[in-house]
Amino acid sequence: TVFPNQKVAAKEVAGRIANLIRKKQATGENAVLGLATGVTPIDVYQELIRLHREDGLSFKNVVTFNLDEYYPMKPFAEQSYVRFMNENLFDYIDIDKANVHVPDGTLPLEQIQQYCLEYERKISEQGGLDLQILGIGRTGHIGFNEPGSAPNSGTRLVTLDDLTRSDAARDFGGKENVPTKAITMGIGTIFKAREIILMAWNTKKAPIIKKAVEGEISSEVPATYLQQSDKVEFILDQDAASEL
Ligand code: GLP
Repeated sequence: TVFPNQKVAAKEVAGRIANLIRKKQATGENAVLGLATGVTPIDVYQELIRLHREDGLSFKNVVTFNLDEYYPMKPFAEQSYVRFMNENLFDYIDIDKANVHVPDGTLPLEQIQQYCLEYERKISEQGGLDLQILGIGRTGHIGFNEPGSAPNSGTRLVTLDDLTRSDAARDFGGKENVPTKAITMGIGTIFKAREIILMAWNTKKAPIIKKAVEGEISSEVPATYLQQSDKVEFILDQDAASEL
């Protein structure tokens, strides 16, 4: 679905999230959301904060699982996704912090495999993700599932692609400071969500959106796996859709 600009598109996504939360509230259930970081979802989070402040949208029944985190990463470091989520959403809404999950970038290497299994288990315990929102990296990554990721991959430690590290260089004051690894939900984890929305804005994303939507399905562009599912929607602004 192509919207005239990113503000309108983000508002649409936020509106759908709000509807899901309210629907679940009406039946006394939790809404289980898979959340993403990056510049792309910021306007969605802004709109959710506005709906909380102005329309009384409550997040008391919301449980969240973030897609990924750099490794290693301290939660209060400037580039941490824990900090990103707090500063862009959680600090401004009434969510119970006990319901918030972001992969832990502080664990020793030998504990990570077990931790990742636990992360999957926690999602299942909540009944699975109702909705996963995604951005897309210029390598075609979703979460941090870089080229080569298997369609059935689970939450795991991965090595970041060179282009991904270049794109993150500005946040870290130089590429050499960008971690080489990250913990990410897998493609398989993402696919278990009952609904998936991939968002992209800006002409910078147009070439990778073309590949993701129209290209051959291949592990070389992990976002192409999304073509195989009818529970996936791409929500784009005109610029990101300009090469389709
Ligand atoms: C990072 C995140 C991804 C995100 C991507 C795109 O790599 N791990 O989840 O989709 O960046 O970021 P942006 O939205 O800033 O373009």
